[in-house]
Amino acid sequence: MSANAYTAWRAEAKRPIPPQWPTRITELLGIRWPLLLGGMMWLSDARLVAAMVRAGGMGFITARSSRTDEAFRQALRDCRALTGGLAFGVNLTLSRRAAHNDGMLARLHIALEEGVRIFETAGLPPTQLLPAIREAGAVVIHKCAHVRHAVAAQNMGVDAVTLVGMEEGGHPGSNPLPTFLNGAYALEQLHIPLALGGGIGHGRQIAAALALGADAVVMGSVFTPALETPAHEAYKRRVVATDAHGTRAVLGSLGDTWRVLDNDNARKVAALEQAGARSYPEFGDLISGERTQALAYQAGQHEEGMLSMGPAVGFARAVEPVAGIVARLQRECAEASGRFQRMLGSI
Ligand SMILES: Cc1cc2nc3c(=O)[nH]c(=O)nc-3n(C[C@H](O)[C@H](O)[C@H](O)COP(=O)(O)O)c2cc1C
Repeated sequence: MSANAYTAWRAEAKRPIPPQWPTRITELLGIRWPLLLGGMMWLSDARLVAAMVRAGGMGFITARSSRTDEAFRQALRDCRALTGGLAFGVNLTLSRRAAHNDGMLARLHIALEEGVRIFETAGLPPTQLLPAIREAGAVVIHKCAHVRHAVAAQNMGVDAVTLVGMEEGGHPGSNPLPTFLNGAYALEQLHIPLALGGGIGHGRQIAAALALGADAVVMGSVFTPALETPAHEAYKRRVVATDAHGTRAVLGSLGDTWRVLDNDNARKVAALEQAGARSYPEFGDLISGERTQALAYQAGQHEEGMLSMGPAVGFARAVEPVAGIVARLQRECAEASGRFQRMLGSI
């Protein structure tokens, strides 16, 4: 897409949607609500991301989930068709295992060729990705778990940061601090927009994050059983039946904390770690993403695989469309902020 075509497309994508909870992030991304659905490995496909975008938030197709470059390109085209031209994002997660990063730069170039101009980066600093993103005039939100990493990303020139706490489903990093504490400290040092993530699944938490000073929230776990999520019905039923205590963090001793559903597989991993396993090969197939995708997400064997999940899952109480989840969050957020405003008004 040429620069002119992109400008016209972006203007069109923005036009019919007046921002309804305006923040610096809704402005930056041209969305109605400061609600981001963070990229979810294997799950953030065209249909799920488009559903979030159509509901007025932002979603990110996980570049890693496509097995080939061609499949990735097709996913972007499908998403463009499903959003009716509204802008959507791509998640570029860099792995701590360097060999796993081959191909991420190529995926970035494909996304740029396909007109994507919104990126969520995560895992490692986006040093190798930034020049191409900058040259294309695209927006980048970097996700990290330490305030000092958020400040480093700000200094590096990203447009916004997402800071996640230890409650985050997936890889919350080595910082043991929770989301709201991270956020309060970060706001003392950041001048670029901040999204807060980790453990958020109720609208009153969104109201609290916005009142704290965040420009958006990032969620994942609470959307895992959404109707549009590309996963087996049995997995979704298991997720809906899981409460706030149904997740556990493993692999912290490898410096690679992973918060997942507390299933049989996670308990085996925890037992190996407890017994002294300290390298990835010692966990074998138990931590294989391909195995998770094939057995749990595709075949519905939810006691197999590493199923990224945080305690916000307790707020996911039904398999329902993304639009329904977003509407619930909006209602709850409005109620909570109304209460706060009335309280202030009565002082
Ligand atoms: C199933 C699942 C898969 C995830 N995969 C990724 C990923 O590949 N890359 C990434 O940056 N974040 C990933 N995340 C983290 C989310 O993008 C988001 O930051 C997180 O879910 C927010 O915390 P919450 O789960 O407590 O809502 C994943 C989360 C979940 C639940």
